[in-house]
Amino acid sequence: MSHWIDHQQSSERKFFGGILQGRQVVFEAACHHIEVDPPAVQLTEGSDQLGNIDMKKIVVICKGGFGKEMLEYLSDTFSADSGYESERIQDLFPDDELIVKPDEVFVVANGDSAVKARLVKKIEQAGGQLLSVIHPTCYVAKTATIGSGVIMCPFAFVAPGAVLAPHVTMNVHCACGHNARIGSYSVLSPYACVAGAAELGEGVFLGSYAFVAPEKRVGNHSKLSVGAIAHKDVPENALAVGNPARIIANYYS
Ligand SMILES: CC(C)(COP(=O)(O)OP(=O)(O)OC[C@H]1O[C@@H](n2cnc3c(N)ncnc32)[C@H](O)[C@@H]1OP(=O)(O)O)[C@@H](O)C(=O)NCCC(=O)NCCS
Repeated sequence: MSHWIDHQQSSERKFFGGILQGRQVVFEAACHHIEVDPPAVQLTEGSDQLGNIDMKKIVVICKGGFGKEMLEYLSDTFSADSGYESERIQDLFPDDELIVKPDEVFVVANGDSAVKARLVKKIEQAGGQLLSVIHPTCYVAKTATIGSGVIMCPFAFVAPGAVLAPHVTMNVHCACGHNARIGSYSVLSPYACVAGAAELGEGVFLGSYAFVAPEKRVGNHSKLSVGAIAHKDVPENALAVGNPARIIANYYS
């Protein structure tokens, strides 16, 4: 758990809108509508003597639809004086050589949990840093815990006591109920909902409008198809469909 950013002990709600290592960017959220202050890039490093800040260049990985949406979200989230600007959008394949420039930070805009995990690891191995993106229209409760590299798209909701592990993706209008826990690299597609005290393991995929009932658990690397309603626990590596969700495949059998 040491790699999780845990502010549950803190009386202030804090989010990391920038890089979680190196130059840290911390901003606070308003109660019902997050006001994303320009991330406070420190002037001690990467600045000239006049205090002009070297801009960090945001590289969006994956040129698909989600990547194009991400460019919009970035322009909403990082203002011109934030110290961050979108540089380019590009694909990245396993055999590609990745050379990271010192002023680059990365956002992986891919809706497949397994692909995203591979790309994040490749970027980290090349020395790259992943940016957290929390769109200003999101609601995040002050006792929620948000891991590094998390992406929260417009109107996503995180309730009190919920925990998002690193590199979770919450697409538009997703909800994460009170005390729910979402494992790293999990992806919630638009309008997916994880109810109170429910739990997703690592690398779980929820299709659009999928729902996990209160206190139920979805095992590592399982997928709920679009509209699936999980009233019971879902084991690891399963594909569950329908309402009530039934398991129709195991990805490793
Ligand atoms: C969960 C999901 C990603 C699984 O994808 P996958 O692992 O590639 O699996 P497949 O789509 O090949 O489906 C495997 C089998 O389950 C079946 N299946 C998938 N979803 C189903 C459903 N909702 N109801 C019934 N059968 C379903 C497929 O027909 C296929 O059957 P077959 O092997 O007889 O051909 C996919 O079902 C899904 O929900 N896609 C939509 C995701 C979404 O909401 N995207 C939004 C992005 S913004």
